[in-house]
Amino acid sequence: MAAAQIAPGFSVGDLLTLRREFPILHQQVHGKPLAFLDSGASSQKPQRVIRALTEYYERTNANVHRGVYQLSEQATFAYEQARGKVARFIGARSPRELIFTRNTTEAINLVANAWGGANLRPGDRILLTVMEHHSNLVPWHMLAQRSGAVIDYLQIDGAGRLVLDDLKRKLAGVKIVALTHQSNVLGTITPVREIAAQAHAAGAVVLVDGAQSVPHMPVDVQELGIDFLAFSGHKMCGPTGIGVLWGRKALLDAMPPFLGGGSMIRTVTLAGSTYADVPARFEAGTPAIGEAIALGEAVDFLGEVGMERIHAHEQELTVYALDRLAEVAGLKVYGPLSADDRGGALSFTLDGVHPHDIAAVLDGEGIAVRAGHHCCQPLHTLLDVPATARASFYLYNIPEEIDRLAAGLVKARKLFT
Ligand code: ALA
Repeated sequence: MAAAQIAPGFSVGDLLTLRREFPILHQQVHGKPLAFLDSGASSQKPQRVIRALTEYYERTNANVHRGVYQLSEQATFAYEQARGKVARFIGARSPRELIFTRNTTEAINLVANAWGGANLRPGDRILLTVMEHHSNLVPWHMLAQRSGAVIDYLQIDGAGRLVLDDLKRKLAGVKIVALTHQSNVLGTITPVREIAAQAHAAGAVVLVDGAQSVPHMPVDVQELGIDFLAFSGHKMCGPTGIGVLWGRKALLDAMPPFLGGGSMIRTVTLAGSTYADVPARFEAGTPAIGEAIALGEAVDFLGEVGMERIHAHEQELTVYALDRLAEVAGLKVYGPLSADDRGGALSFTLDGVHPHDIAAVLDGEGIAVRAGHHCCQPLHTLLDVPATARASFYLYNIPEEIDRLAAGLVKARKLFT
């Protein structure tokens, strides 16, 4: 493909309207228009989400679940309404299955501590994959150390897809399978439904790291047949400091608390405490109220745009980017090379140019990409590279930005080789 084309997920008019809603996109960086290609790390926010956050602080700010005065009741109503919106967004049966956390990392730590602490014994097995983010590795390493459980890993093939030939054997004795839905490095979309079905048949529960999938495609927890889903608000047009753990109600009900403090108790005496029902049991202390409300607004926004269309748009961008990057001499893309089973996070190396230098040259062109190990050191060790550069797309990206990326990479190669 030579010239930039508008992807059919959105019309040209749709994209222009969409982009207008994101104030940050309309600025120059080093004298060039900003091309933000790092939404895998954190997405930009539409005006209505920013407004929801400021309106909360301007008009409704008060603590939740505590006051009997009007402001507190309004804040509580808006906070709980946001819980309902997010629950519906992922197909939860009830808002009470949804716990607000700080981010994906905290949601996974919650499960590793509360569920893992109560359910894992020495010799029990935990099954992960080799392409997990540190947030879905380190909590399990810590749990294994505490509990005496043993960790095993699903491997990947040369194209970055999970190897499932030995899944049945690997599931023997496994109590929990924890895996990413979409790799933040390789872009690989994993067959979660198939893995969950086999895991359940083997008696294991399944946690999915949805940090890179929930913002980018329709995700329905019932359809996937999983037990826990963790994701972050800031990667899906919402604010930082707010994340989500969804869990099956029976599992959550049986879990002991993770953090102790205000709001998560039923009774406290000097002799001890009893705990509130879920979700309050897992929301100790004052939560990120405005951030939760703004996440509710982000979910409304995404729902109105349409997750199917967002996914289609990103797939078109990915196909286009794979074509354009293939024209850059010395460039290697990691992960699946067809857009069918990958999302729009494209990690690559360029012969003779360190990924940090790639990112610096691109920055000079106004293009924001991430460089490093992307919190996936074991995966980079496996790929036999210390680091990669990564471009990641979202609903507001346009093919012209990919043209600029390709041109910037050609420039980087010329400068360094
Ligand atoms: N997990 C985020 C990323 O991949 C921060 O960039």
